[in-house]
Amino acid sequence: MEILHISAECYPVAKVGGLGDVVGALPKYQNQLGHIAKVVMPMYRTKFLYEHDFDIVHKGSFGMGTYWFNYTIIKERTNKLGFDLYLVDINGLLDRESVYGYGDDTERFTAFQIAVVDWMSQWQHRPDIVHVHDHQAGLVPFMMQHCLGYRHLAAVPTVLTIHNAQYQGQMGWDKSGYIPNWDTWEWGKLDWRNNINPLACAVKCVRQVTTVSQTYLEEMRSNANGLENLFEYEKGKCTGILNGIDTDVWDPAVDTYIDPNFTKKDAGLGKLANKKVLCDEFNLDISKPLFIFIGRLVHEKAADLLPQAIYDSVYHMEGKMNFLLLGSGDANVEWELENMKSQLVGYYNSKIGYNEKLSHQLYAGADFLLMPSRVEPCGLNQMYAMRYGTVPIVRNTGGLRDTVIDFGDPGGYGIRFNDATVWDVTYSIHRALEMYSQPEIFKEIIATIMELDFSWETSAKKYIKLYESIK
Ligand code: ADP
Ligand code: GLC
Repeated sequence: MEILHISAECYPVAKVGGLGDVVGALPKYQNQLGHIAKVVMPMYRTKFLYEHDFDIVHKGSFGMGTYWFNYTIIKERTNKLGFDLYLVDINGLLDRESVYGYGDDTERFTAFQIAVVDWMSQWQHRPDIVHVHDHQAGLVPFMMQHCLGYRHLAAVPTVLTIHNAQYQGQMGWDKSGYIPNWDTWEWGKLDWRNNINPLACAVKCVRQVTTVSQTYLEEMRSNANGLENLFEYEKGKCTGILNGIDTDVWDPAVDTYIDPNFTKKDAGLGKLANKKVLCDEFNLDISKPLFIFIGRLVHEKAADLLPQAIYDSVYHMEGKMNFLLLGSGDANVEWELENMKSQLVGYYNSKIGYNEKLSHQLYAGADFLLMPSRVEPCGLNQMYAMRYGTVPIVRNTGGLRDTVIDFGDPGGYGIRFNDATVWDVTYSIHRALEMYSQPEIFKEIIATIMELDFSWETSAKKYIKLYESIK
């Protein structure tokens, strides 16, 4: 089968969060299963772009409302990612340093989608499956089915994967002219509560919807930022497929970001040496358990709970632990995390920003990973952490629930709590200290989590099966 993945992110080309990781891995594993999976994404000004060679494969142009854009599709020459990578260059619109966060993101991603559909409409053949990811590609199925110039693509089966239903890409109806010459009888497919809603539109138009864990699939019917009824109504075509992790990229035995490398056999010494690097750099005490957090500092990640939970833990548990945080996002949380540095010297430190290398070092050198997320469709951090022998402390939600079993339960290995409250986080830290204080048990838990299989093989096959059912 030939599968075209359409996404705003793809690691290592451009990544903001887990969407990038998934789109950088799933196509590779689908190719290994004997299929032809390709990725098309916007051409941002990233390091990857300048460090690789590309060929021009197509040039075209399209109108978007009163704008007229020329676009170029370029293809990475060596196939080094394990799949064909195509980038869409729309001069001045997509070629920026960041992926998101511009005032004209609506125009940027709408134009990206038109360019992809326009390009695809000129292929001599049809792909077997068009697989769109999140709202930045959510209008593609509508355009293939209801834009008059692209209707010859209408029969191509489409799949939507929802990585996070919190973000939907809504735009006002005043922007409906951006979508090229469409059948206005179909306006209801674009609409959700008097706005054009690309995520809702994709749910209505595609043959199959997947999301990234079974529990999140169920949660979406009661918590999906206003789309709950839609998910209830469309539940017949929705499936949960848990993400995997790319074990070529995330392997402590060969990871070039960490020093030294280690395996399950020498995890004790290997992790300690990696912890020393962190403790030296961030002025922390290597003899204490190290708790980390890595991620976007936003409400859904419950990053706002961390400052108080860290204070309470340090003060009420006699400073028996260290904390090290990496992330960026909400300005208030960033400010609090910066501010705490001077008050908790030797107990806490943080790095505000995005740093791929440091994230690997943290997974390798830490003892516990905190993930108090209010919403977590899948979550990759907890799986990376476990592969690097770091015990996850997670809220009982979404993919966290599907990947972490509390060590108090049969077969358990992690720490799970129910409420996104400071109390539940600090109580879990207390439980972690108890676990850490029993070296034999702790060692056994590390060995168990490093053995767990979160590889993509199983999930990649599930996607193929799903495609086959709609081909
Ligand atoms: P989400 O996609 O919701 O942000 P995931 O757990 O699926 O959450 O994936 C997050 C990914 O982004 C992981 O690869 C994590 O290591 C990475 N990440 C998040 N924040 C940072 C950061 N500040 N620096 C480096 N990597 C980060
Ligand atoms: C989203 C979700 C995260 C998931 C990732 C990859 O960003 O927030 O939970 O792991 O997508 O699917």
